[in-house]
Amino acid sequence: MCGIFAYLNYCVPRTRKEIFELLVKGLMRLEYRGYDSAGIAVDGDKNTTKDNNQDIVLIKKKGKVKALDEELYKKDCMNLEAVLGTHFGIAHTRWATHGEPNAINSHPHRSDKNNEFVVIHNGIITNYKELKKYLNSKGYEFESETDTEVIPKLIKYVYDNRERDDLSFSTLVERVIQQLEGAFALVFKSRYFPGEAVATRRGSPLLIGVRSQHELSAEHIPIQYNILVKSIYWIKIHNRPEDSSTAVSVTGDGKGMEYYFASDASAIIEHTNKVIYLEDDDIAAVVSGKLSIHRLNRQAGEDPVRAIQTLQMELQEIMKGNFEAFMQKEIFEQPESVFNTMRGRICFETNKVVLGGLKDHLKEIKRCRRLIVIGCGTSFHAAVATRQILEELTELPVMVELASDFLDRNTPVFRDDVCFYISQSGETADTLMALRYCKERGALTVGVTNTVGSSICRETDCGVHINAGPEIGVASTKAYTSQFVSLIMFGLMMSEDRISLQGRRLEIINGLRTLPDMIKKVLALDKNIKSIADELYEQKSLLVMGRGFNYATCLEGALKIKEITYMHSEGILAGELKHGPLALIDKDMPVIMIIMRDACYTKCQNALQQVTARSGRPIILCCQDDPEVSKNAYKTIGLPQTVDCLQGILSVIPLQLMSFHLAVLRGFDVDCPRNLAKSVTVE
Ligand code: F6R
Repeated sequence: MCGIFAYLNYCVPRTRKEIFELLVKGLMRLEYRGYDSAGIAVDGDKNTTKDNNQDIVLIKKKGKVKALDEELYKKDCMNLEAVLGTHFGIAHTRWATHGEPNAINSHPHRSDKNNEFVVIHNGIITNYKELKKYLNSKGYEFESETDTEVIPKLIKYVYDNRERDDLSFSTLVERVIQQLEGAFALVFKSRYFPGEAVATRRGSPLLIGVRSQHELSAEHIPIQYNILVKSIYWIKIHNRPEDSSTAVSVTGDGKGMEYYFASDASAIIEHTNKVIYLEDDDIAAVVSGKLSIHRLNRQAGEDPVRAIQTLQMELQEIMKGNFEAFMQKEIFEQPESVFNTMRGRICFETNKVVLGGLKDHLKEIKRCRRLIVIGCGTSFHAAVATRQILEELTELPVMVELASDFLDRNTPVFRDDVCFYISQSGETADTLMALRYCKERGALTVGVTNTVGSSICRETDCGVHINAGPEIGVASTKAYTSQFVSLIMFGLMMSEDRISLQGRRLEIINGLRTLPDMIKKVLALDKNIKSIADELYEQKSLLVMGRGFNYATCLEGALKIKEITYMHSEGILAGELKHGPLALIDKDMPVIMIIMRDACYTKCQNALQQVTARSGRPIILCCQDDPEVSKNAYKTIGLPQTVDCLQGILSVIPLQLMSFHLAVLRGFDVDCPRNLAKSVTVE
């Protein structure tokens, strides 16, 4: 996830300082979407007409938006008091997916040293390698490690090879996006089109705020349908007639118009509540202050207008959407976040799984003595959750280790060990020290993090970025499910050539394909879970019990409950029940039991009998339509069934939701639990 913000004023005088302030404020509103680097592009002092050769000025900085803000005022070549009657500025706050966070990799990206075209992007371009290879072969040089940079290079290529001089900016963009695969929201600026803006999206959100010094003369923007001439191959320049229809303006002559482009309404609402939500493949262009929206050929049943909506929401509400807390938002984002973890890595047609960051080390990993998977808290639980399937798919011994304990024991590590470090932040001190400890002993080190450019990313030999998007709530939720999926994908990649495992691989890959939809079904149980939380929230203690693939779910569920509700909660291995925990069971002790239809089903039913025999009143997480289990339950939460080794991704979600509701009912701040920090950078 990244944040896009851009601002265009047409015949509305603004000083450069005002424009800087506006762009920075917009980025600050979007910082929750990413905050590892930021940048802007604005016109240089002389770049106000078509005839001059001054570059657009790019200012980019590693770190939070505040660091960029300070940088802006260091550019003494820029006159802050200069009044720019018409101007277009673009800005971006980044959450790295390709290439570490630094000024070069941050946005806007540019076509060339003269900044002829500059672009901001949110999303992932999955075919960037092919595009980059092609553009390289045509002499276009790249300066960053990002997927995004192919876009400004490509638009310059299209521009340099245009068949006519009068092609519009939006036509150039239209030709570019026909070659892009993946997801994107894009805003383009060019020195060849001063005071003009083009924005488009596919799969990533983008909206436009509209403000006018006069009454808006339209409530809807009719869509202009361009004539589609299919490209034979992308390198061919499309020979289609330029769309000659006149642009539809929001105002009569466009004067006095201001436009705000952003990834979400939180950056716009303080300027205007009139917004247009773009849809996939819309190309919005502002020329002479007039906004028009173009698309390629019209699809059957498609709405031919985009409404200018009036937002009634408060800022806080917009940032969290309809959610009460970031943690709740992040729980509900999981269909999308696990999809993003898999995106571009699993080919469902060929059943091939490729984790780009590991492929060059695969041979070495396959030859290793054992895998050691190390983490803290939730990240450790992701290791526990996937241990069994990793053992099965890699046919290697797998040790899972809490980083602090691993270090306390001076655990023996050998040159032929492969050590994985699981960490959302990539900065956890214990995990980082365990990494350095193993490195000194010559083991191959692999990072699995959500933060590109973090210490763990930089110091490991290779790694996987889980692509879950920034996690703001202190209690980790979507990072857990994405770590889980990443480790499973690693197992699948390791087992590709094992003939005996092909059936199992296929079953898991099919399970992964349907996972986002299954997660949606689990999220739909939220009301049921809330009603159970209504009964439990005054309790002092809550036990969570299960075994096999769901033992990690118990540990993770109990951790969520204790950290945000401050109730005592314990994850108990059901196989250990008779060895102690059974003494806790009576009619007053709330117990959640996880009993799924897997190899441990019968053993879990035995545990259930023991609980009910002691007058316990178990709340059971089980498969939908399981009368056998339900008849002994005080309450049930029925879950869709998936492959045994993926079931933990579904069964943890009701416990995430339960902890959230319990914390709210107990009156606590869900996103900022007492005594805890999001990133634990001290031992
Ligand atoms: C629990 C939680 C913590 C973290 C742990 C490791 O909700 O967030 O237990 O999982 O501090 O943090 P990372 O994953 O950043 O290394």
